Formats: sequence, C-alpha cells, structure tokens
Amino acid sequence: MTLDVATIKRDFPIIDREINGKRLVYLDSASSSQKPRSVLDAMGRFQETSYANVHRGVYTIAAEATEAYEAARRAVARFVNAPSERSVVFAKNVTEAINLVAYTWARANLGAGDAVLVTEMEHHANLVPWLMLAEERGVELRYLPLAEDHTLDLSDLDRLVDGVKLLAVTAMSNVLGTLPPLDLLIPAAHAAGAKVLVDAAQWVPHLPTDVQAWDADFVGFTGHKMLGPSGIGVLVAKEELLESMPAFLGGGEMIRDVRLDGWTPNEIPWKFEAGTPPIVEAIGLHAAIDELEGLGMDAVREHEVSLTGYALRTLNDRFGDDITIHGPAEPAMRGGVISFEFRDVHPHDISQILDEHGVCVRAGHHCAKPLMRRLGVGASARASLYVYNDEADVDALADALDATSTFFG
Ligand SMILES: Cc1ncc(COP(=O)(O)O)c(C=O)c1O
Repeated sequence: MTLDVATIKRDFPIIDREINGKRLVYLDSASSSQKPRSVLDAMGRFQETSYANVHRGVYTIAAEATEAYEAARRAVARFVNAPSERSVVFAKNVTEAINLVAYTWARANLGAGDAVLVTEMEHHANLVPWLMLAEERGVELRYLPLAEDHTLDLSDLDRLVDGVKLLAVTAMSNVLGTLPPLDLLIPAAHAAGAKVLVDAAQWVPHLPTDVQAWDADFVGFTGHKMLGPSGIGVLVAKEELLESMPAFLGGGEMIRDVRLDGWTPNEIPWKFEAGTPPIVEAIGLHAAIDELEGLGMDAVREHEVSLTGYALRTLNDRFGDDITIHGPAEPAMRGGVISFEFRDVHPHDISQILDEHGVCVRAGHHCAKPLMRRLGVGASARASLYVYNDEADVDALADALDATSTFFG
C-alpha cells in the first residue's frame, strides 16, 4: 500500500528544478505543498475552454463553469465525508473559514462571560480570531496545556471544558505534528454543551478524513497544503448551523433578493460566498482531490508515518545531542512535520545554508508564537514531508545539516 514516490515525483514539474546547482529538495509542504501536473493542467484547460463567471450567465460556457465549480464542491464533500454538498462553503483559505465562524456564529452566540476553549498549540489562524472576540466581547479564553511529551495534557479537561460554548482545536499541530485526541475531545465538548471547530489544515492533506465520524460542528482546511492552488479554503459545517448563522460578507451571490429597503439571504452554502468565488481555484482543488484519491489517503498516511520514522531515526542517530526535535517521539502519534533546534545555530541561518544545498525548510515561529514561548524557543527550523518526499530527501537534509555544522565550526 506504500506510495511509488519515484513515479509521483515525475508528476510534479517543479521537482526537476535545480537550486544552486543542486536538485530541489522540497521539505516545506506544511507551509504550502507543490502542485502536480494534473492540477496545473486542469486549471489551464478550464481557463482555455470553459472559463466564465459562475451562477450568473445562461450561455453554454457559463453553465459549464457553474457545473465545474459545483462539481468541485461535490468532490470536497465526498473527500471528507461531509453530510452534504450544502454543508461545504468555499472561502479564501482556512484562516477565512475560521474567521467566518468567528464573525457569524460566534458573534451571534457568544458574549461577556462565555468561554472558548483552545489549546496551547494552535496556529494563529485558530487563536487570533478568538483573542479578538475576547477583546471585543469579554469572552473568556481557556487553554488546554501542552504536556511534557508534546501531546495535550488532558488531566484538567473536565474543569476546563465545563461551561464552554466552543472548543476550537487543531487536528494536527503544524509545529509538533501532534494529533490531539479528537475522539475524546469532541464528545467531551458536546457533553458540556459546546460547539466544536476543528482546524484541519494539517490533517486533511495527510490522513483520511471523515467529518461525520468526528461529529465536529465546523471543520476548516485549505487547498494549497493539499496539492491544490492557493486562494481557496473550505469550511464544512452542520447544515442546521449554517442555516441559523447570519451571513458573513455582503454583496452579489449571497442574496436571494435585494430591495432598496432590505435584502434576503441566498440558500446555503451560497449565503456565505459573496462576490465572484475562487472559480479556477475550485477546479484546481477538485483535481488535487482526484490526485490524492488516486494515491489513496491510507497509503499517504502509511508513507508519511514510515518516512517520519526514518527522518527521526536518521536525524537523532547522526546528530545526537546536537539536535532537539520537538513533538511526540512515536511516528504513529504524529504527522510528518519535524521542527528542530540544531546546536545553537539560528533557524534562519540553518534555512539559508540548507538552501545552498537545494534543501527548502521553513524557519521561524510558524505562526504559533504562544507555542514557541511554551517550548522556550523563539524560532525553530521545520522540515515537513509529503507524498513526493522519500528517504533520499531526508538524507539530503541530514547531509546539508552536516554542512551547517562544518560552516559554524
Ligand atoms: C494548523 C494550521 N492552521 C491554519 C493555517 C493557516 O492556513 P492558511 O494560511 O491557508 O489560512 C495553517 C498554515 O500554516 C496551519 O498549519
């Protein structure tokens, strides 16, 4: 069931590139993934043959464009086992999807004294919208803390969840790779009477997703991390919630009627899609989903667990005490994001020297500043793995780290 990475690599035109005379070793997919030829072709073909605005014209190519856009919605619904295509809202990215919930459901339902439970390992996208709400409304923010082994410390869960109105939790940390136990957290939040939002930006590209099995009320993810283009994200939400929520942005498309003295909203999901939507991006996302379904998400996960294990072993064996890798030690307990400190070299210097060897890793706070503070570091270097990476890429990372060591003596 493992992936044929040599064949997969050939589907990604950028992988042929050389950087500084070295082959490109792309290890930054947690930030944004590369795009296969099928995605690039689908977007190009659509624009060359059927491009028009959607839900407006009655002429042939407008109807084709509308059908292609809605087919993308059906593909998303199938891919994550959403209850219906009506529960799938397209947004600009997952950040916008989460803000949609914060500006509509949350502002209609939360006020002073209400509590939102998040974790210490959230990306800013699932933290700042709630901090803004706290500032504006006096909503209380509570935090599930990080445990020593970089899982979540659930010892105080009963007290923390008591009386909360919303649990907003990542499905996979973009820094640690930690996979919070959603099967425990979501029922606990529901039992306490809370709604649940899952930030699945790092999960959906890498593991099989079943939003109905999660039973989350809101699930957000983003196209550019899952082989699709930038400019499109997804909010999947329970239909009854979408029906009851006020609209988000106002404008064309999201209305059924507009008069000089008022307006009535469109049906869901279009009620939340004001203006011309990301049409070409939806076509690209559909092609990305086809690509991932072709590979099989079980196989994707199996490949990444195996490659993560190889990476952890290789880096620890070769660098011992010179390297500190954050996140759970057991590959099956985590995703393929490997954040590390290397000797006392600043992560930006690491990233720059690795670049001289063609190796792309992210350096910085990874949009998770509270987590970095909790880890006691200002920044880390992060290598992240995907379907087009293999053991040779991990070896290239280790060799380039050797060169970093040499450079800094
Ligand atoms: C866990 C997590 N949530 C949210 C985001 C934000 O994604 P986007 O910039 O596509 O909105 C990211 C991106 O790094 C992420 O890793």
